[in-house]
Amino acid sequence: MDKEPVIIFSDVTKIYPLGAGDVVALNHLSLEIGRGEFIAIMGPSGSGKSTLLNIIGCLDTPTSGEVIIDGRNIRTMSDDQLTELRRDVLGFIFQQFNLILLLNAFENVQYPLILKTGETGGTDRCGEVLTAVGLTPDLWHHRPGQLSGGQQQRVAIARALVNDPEIMLCDEPTGNLDTKTGTAIMDLLTMLCREQGKTIVMVTHDPRTAEYADRIILIEDGKIRKEP
Ligand SMILES: Nc1ncnc2c1ncn2[C@@H]1O[C@H](COP(=O)(O)OP(=O)(O)OP(=O)(O)O)[C@@H](O)[C@H]1O
Ligand SMILES: [Mg+2]
Repeated sequence: MDKEPVIIFSDVTKIYPLGAGDVVALNHLSLEIGRGEFIAIMGPSGSGKSTLLNIIGCLDTPTSGEVIIDGRNIRTMSDDQLTELRRDVLGFIFQQFNLILLLNAFENVQYPLILKTGETGGTDRCGEVLTAVGLTPDLWHHRPGQLSGGQQQRVAIARALVNDPEIMLCDEPTGNLDTKTGTAIMDLLTMLCREQGKTIVMVTHDPRTAEYADRIILIEDGKIRKEP
């Protein structure tokens, strides 16, 4: 890899202890993702894709092994430091959009900015990212229920972008969208990678969606499947 790694997994194992026996979700997995890379993660249901994404996102912790995100070893970090990392370095995009239904589009985008600065403001920044994702001002005061799926996903991407994260994590970002809308969202993610240098890690079941990525990582039984 010619790019400096921004995500490093060394021998990472994740075990969920369950009454009926332990579930090994990740099994001694190692990988490096370079700054500015666009990665697709594919693999069968239950293979560990979301577990991998959740650990990169500091939403879950490994049972063993080392995880370095943007130069920081997450095992040595306090809860407050992890919260800061999630807020400042990572942006999350989900299949279900996960917008706050009582807030309008603009307020949804403003929310992480308020969490960061502790004050309402930053309206210029919100307008800037909403414009960047292609949401016209006439829609900024619509609530999620008054927007199409594609428009809601644009709001979710703007929200993920507002604190200018280094890494965007996407779990099936086009899973709830029709093909045409899904293509527009993939074009948008590609633009963010190419023009703004974002590192994108995207889980997808869809081979056509995965084709947008620079590299496809195949996960099977919690391990990376090496190409023959
Ligand atoms: N919180 C949890 N508690 C117990 N087991 C879990 C938990 N989360 C995931 N698992 C198990 O870990 C394994 C990997 O799950 P994961 O959600 O990472 O799969 P996935 O590849 O994202 O699947 P899908 O394509 O269906 O979303 C599965 O066997 C799953 O049942
Ligand atoms: Mg999953």
